[in-house]
Amino acid sequence: MVFGSFTSSHVVVVLLGLLSLLQPLTSIRLGLVRLPSPDLPVFREAPAFRNGKECGSNESDRINVAMTLDVNYLRGTMAAVLSMLQHSTCPENLSFYFLSAHDAPELFSSIKSTFPYLNMTIYPFNSNRVRGKISKSIRQALDQPLNYARIYLADTIPENVQRVIYLDSDLVVVDDIAKLWGVDMEGKIVAAPEYCHANFTLYFTKQFWSDPVLSKTFEGRKPCYFNTGVMVMDVNKWRKEKYTEKVEEWMDVQKQHKRIYHLGSLPPFLLVLAGNIKAVDHRWNQHGLGGDNLEGKCRSLHPGPISLLHWSGKGKPWLRLDSRKPCIVDHLWAPYDLYRSSRHFFEE
Ligand SMILES: *[C@@H]1O[C@H](CO)[C@@H](O)[C@H](O)[C@H]1NC(C)=O
Ligand SMILES: *[C@@H]1O[C@H](CO)[C@@H](O)[C@H](O)[C@H]1NC(C)=O
Ligand SMILES: *[C@@H]1O[C@H](CO)[C@@H](O)[C@H](O)[C@H]1NC(C)=O
Ligand SMILES: *[C@@H]1O[C@H](CO)[C@@H](O)[C@H](O)[C@H]1NC(C)=O
Repeated sequence: MVFGSFTSSHVVVVLLGLLSLLQPLTSIRLGLVRLPSPDLPVFREAPAFRNGKECGSNESDRINVAMTLDVNYLRGTMAAVLSMLQHSTCPENLSFYFLSAHDAPELFSSIKSTFPYLNMTIYPFNSNRVRGKISKSIRQALDQPLNYARIYLADTIPENVQRVIYLDSDLVVVDDIAKLWGVDMEGKIVAAPEYCHANFTLYFTKQFWSDPVLSKTFEGRKPCYFNTGVMVMDVNKWRKEKYTEKVEEWMDVQKQHKRIYHLGSLPPFLLVLAGNIKAVDHRWNQHGLGGDNLEGKCRSLHPGPISLLHWSGKGKPWLRLDSRKPCIVDHLWAPYDLYRSSRHFFEE
């Protein structure tokens, strides 16, 4: 079991968290930690997934996946993990790196009891690093500090990790993730599907395009939209070439000087990387299934083969299924849902 940055006192809390699975802690007040009182869902235990014969033991055969961990998206995270294990030829060689804004041992025990065999570590993401840099966007959910954690991913996970696949929590993978992992980066920092038909102008404000200096940003590049919810990242290169600082600089421009975009963490990524990424097949991010950012209306699938389904946008499949008004595409998510029930873990 990998406890990562958890100290021994946290192990005690983890055990207490496990105990609470057995008997609800209704009257006991834990003096050890101050926790919010989340309605932490309870999940079924996933089966053990075993490697195929062709799986290597070379360290280069290990696949690193990074995701954020948030109580509100936990059901999505569990489904995403299950989908990857289920479609992997070498599920035992997947390593998960979770970034969590809260030092929350109950999240650790929740994952551990759902996936007892998972190779995973939770890393604390200090939201103070980004809090002062966030400017209000068009959708409140986009302004959560954890939404910005991908910018700090390279500095948060261990330095010996050189490549990682970053994934949002509102998606399922329906193909062997090893195929995406094996992409030839051709020296680029990020590999992701590119969408060159999207009108790139719309991601930035008039003030941006009319500023003689700022509007030169994309000179010499052919910038295209890409979705930052699915990225293969060369974190080694990211660290060496200080990309965290590059993205932060644009967030400072937005916050301190001029409103240059409306969305959350996406535009600063585009400013730094658009037109300079390795394009991968569109099948690896069938995005927008959550609908638009304002209403979350139903959307249908785009034509073509699919390896990954992504409910980006306002609507989330678990919420729509619970409300008994699901979109057709939500039925593609349902088979990965491990949710059993909801229970108050800690009561004041
Ligand atoms: C992959 O998993 C198998 C089975 O647990 C193990 O023997 C092998 O060493 C692993 N490979 C890597 C790269 O960790
Ligand atoms: C292990 O991976 C390294 C680096 O990719 C490679 O140079 C080496 O040949 C591999 N070893 C085996 C036994 O496949
Ligand atoms: C878990 O993954 C790490 C690398 O991420 C590796 O060093 C370790 O051997 C793995 N543990 C198991 C039990 O496979
Ligand atoms: C993209 O949007 C801008 C701003 O609304 C508009 O002026 C431009 O004509 C659009 N470009 C295309 C190719 O549709």
